[in-house]
Amino acid sequence: MDRSLEHLVRETAVHRSVYLDPDIFACELERIFGSTWIYVAHESEIPEAGDFKRATIGANPVIVVRGVDREVHVVFNRCAHRAVTVCQAQAGHTSFFRCAYHGWTYDLSGKLTGAPFPKAYDDSFDRTLFGLRPVARVESYRGFVFACLDANVCGLREWLAGAAEYIDAFTDSSPSGSIVARSGSQRYWYKGNWKLQVEGSVDGYHPYVLHKTFFDMQTRRSGQRSDMYSREDTASFVAGLGNGHAVVDSRPEFAKSNVFLERMRMSPGGPELIADLERQYGADQARELVGRVGGNGFNIVIFPNLVLIQAQIRVIQPIAVDRTEVQIWPVTLDGVPARLNQMRLRAHELFFGPAGFGSPDDLEAFNRTQAGLAASPVEWMDFSRGTNRERREGERVTGEVTDETHQRDIYRTWQRLMAGIPNHALAAT
Ligand SMILES: [Fe+2]
Repeated sequence: MDRSLEHLVRETAVHRSVYLDPDIFACELERIFGSTWIYVAHESEIPEAGDFKRATIGANPVIVVRGVDREVHVVFNRCAHRAVTVCQAQAGHTSFFRCAYHGWTYDLSGKLTGAPFPKAYDDSFDRTLFGLRPVARVESYRGFVFACLDANVCGLREWLAGAAEYIDAFTDSSPSGSIVARSGSQRYWYKGNWKLQVEGSVDGYHPYVLHKTFFDMQTRRSGQRSDMYSREDTASFVAGLGNGHAVVDSRPEFAKSNVFLERMRMSPGGPELIADLERQYGADQARELVGRVGGNGFNIVIFPNLVLIQAQIRVIQPIAVDRTEVQIWPVTLDGVPARLNQMRLRAHELFFGPAGFGSPDDLEAFNRTQAGLAASPVEWMDFSRGTNRERREGERVTGEVTDETHQRDIYRTWQRLMAGIPNHALAAT
């Protein structure tokens, strides 16, 4: 397989088997998800000792739990006895994990604390070998907790490369520099490969076409046509940031048109809230505050499967070669008025929510892509937009907003990891 894998990604095209072949999918789980830092939680989800959530690293079920030592532990969700998952709730609070099958019980750090009818085990039974197995590495950056199955992985900060400044910007949109992911989450599934959502999350070419209904509705309600996505000559850009991290950055355009302020004016209670804020803070500061709360004006993929968009943390979970689960956590900002955070959540839902204007469009595009990929005579997916105008500075490569520059960069990292080059070697290149 190794020899053929090298040939599946060309400079400007990706072979259809990368989205269709179950063997390649299995290899991705091992070589990509088994060797890179995978996002598992935001620290604000588990503030107290005993708070936990479930997550998945590739195909591995894990529990992320804050121990009595206040540290975040990431352990496999697998009873040391007969492999049963010991934690079923998506998230919650507990003082122990107990397997429902035979009752083996573990403390918050994963240590085995009890097994029923213990006389069947003599002194040769070493309890310390039968805890919930910890994941090899856990590190966090600005509250974002990542774990890695490979003990030899490079440090998280090094792996994040140019993505770190976007995590900073996402977090620093809060006046206190801390964000809160405790407003619930939403999950959806589509019949397509996981990488379709990865590419799509940072695709600056599609909004004007695929999401036209939304922009038309916005124009009708506000009486103003936003041309942000219908022009190429904008200050927005796309960039590959190193190690497969990719961004479409529209911050300058968002600041100019203050998109969120316009959306808020259209929302129930929005005009009244804007008037209140203007009375309290003055017009300029109110405008700045509203712009900051609405969202960050960029979409970033932190390779392989974490995405930050506007006000949300998104995780793309591969289930099968043609089946993907996506989970979204809208994030509120510490230090802003509660009503403004409510508006932030409503604005998020308007486009990304279960009945929103945007996400259903995207899912339909992914379903149709997977269906079209079955047309066997056409072997390659084209990623050639903007090859003629991309600019490279060190490990960063930049293109215009509708270009595929950053998507090509994602596949370069995919190719290197699939060729078996571990990411500690990758980060150093
Ligand atoms: Fe979209």
